Amino acid sequence: MAVIIEPFRIKVVEPIALPDRRERERRLAEADYNLFALPADCVTFDLLTDSGTAAMSAAQWGAMMIADESYAGSRSYRRFEDAVRDLTGYRHIIPTHQGRAAERILFHLTVRAGSIVPSNSHFDTTRANIEYDRGEAADLVVAEAADTGSPFPFKGNIDLARLDDLCRRERQRIPLGLLTITNNTGGGQPASLENIRGCSRVLRSHGIPFILDACRFAENAYMIKLREPGQGGRPVSDIAREVFRLADGCLLSGKKDGLVNMGGFLALNDDRLAAEARNLLILTEGFPTYGGCAARDLEALTVGLREVLEEPYLEYRLASVRYLAEGLNRAGIPTVQPPGGHAVFIDARRFLPHIPPGQYPGQALACELYLAGGIRSCEIGSVMFGKRDEGGAFVPARWDLVRLALPRRVYTQSHVDRILEICAGIAGRAAELRGMEIVWSPPFLRHFTAKFRPLARGAPS
Ligand code: F0G
Repeated sequence: MAVIIEPFRIKVVEPIALPDRRERERRLAEADYNLFALPADCVTFDLLTDSGTAAMSAAQWGAMMIADESYAGSRSYRRFEDAVRDLTGYRHIIPTHQGRAAERILFHLTVRAGSIVPSNSHFDTTRANIEYDRGEAADLVVAEAADTGSPFPFKGNIDLARLDDLCRRERQRIPLGLLTITNNTGGGQPASLENIRGCSRVLRSHGIPFILDACRFAENAYMIKLREPGQGGRPVSDIAREVFRLADGCLLSGKKDGLVNMGGFLALNDDRLAAEARNLLILTEGFPTYGGCAARDLEALTVGLREVLEEPYLEYRLASVRYLAEGLNRAGIPTVQPPGGHAVFIDARRFLPHIPPGQYPGQALACELYLAGGIRSCEIGSVMFGKRDEGGAFVPARWDLVRLALPRRVYTQSHVDRILEICAGIAGRAAELRGMEIVWSPPFLRHFTAKFRPLARGAPS
């Protein structure tokens, strides 16, 4: 089949906003050039995140109607527990309202001052929750991930030699090891089955529990199928099931591959830890048979976890990300290679070499994408991760990327074609784009609320 189609037809539609250029200019200025501050009703293509933005299926909406909202022992929980246990193999299934609630519970129970939690790369909420409990989040992604242009297929792999070395030196300080699949921070890149097996072996050899941050587990499994020698003939659900069984538990935000707008869970094999987690759950999330969710959310998640492993869906999903990346590359816009599972990451530092990292090329591009065509994206670079050293000098992030995240089952190919048209227009006048300065920022997680100002042409770098 030459054209890979959306394997669904549309039953419910939602109009999208089509503000004109003047309105976009006004709205962006009112938002102080921070896209998080834009009201959604002036955004045409909302590629800010793939989290909680999926379109649910008729089967999911139908399942919500038969939810059992009993406070305790709901039938919906039983169905959810059976489905998650069948998929993951873990003994204890603890529902939470989203991924970070599961993180907070797990790390609060395991991380102490001075603890170290290794991962390929921590997502910002896992890092923040570990640091909140005064632990250290260590990123041990493979060296191949540093070169955004290289075609290495598994840039989400963890460096097994560094992991083993860290475990050997600091065994007493490591309560658990994490692996983020796919590796969101590093460009939505997958970890290979061989690497996950290796990670499991290393951690187990040191007696350290292995927990997956598995919110994009299906995309990771499908990229294993597509890219890893020997895996092409296996059903993707089989690969996913093996991956879960290599670990001792998982954190899972259902807002990504769960195909729901809200929901998640913590799953564990360790009986004692699970009992403690349920106690904490009751304190802030709710009774263990609903956690932070309504029973209808659990029903939708139960169906979503099944639908996300359907191969025509995953084929279309990965093809649409690849289509966007290849179109951008043809227009001369460099992206992290190879395209990952949920988003295309534009390398703004390479695309706009005349804007130094201290003038936030990612933010400049994100603002231009909005001005030129109403596209909302997310800077992942020196706004998010840049720092000042002790002497006050600016220390840029490792990269200046702009993430175009694709909500699941939401936009069609003609939407992507229009996005490509807008981007090609920007590529033709890239040299005219100007940098930005931050005029106000909060003490932490500044990207959410910082205020910016475009720099005048010819401003000193
Ligand atoms: N882990 C990863 C790898 C994530 O990407 C996210 C969320 C979380 C954990 C936290 O889950 O939002 O349900 O609490 N990522 C979103 C994003 C916010 O835009 O990438 P949550």
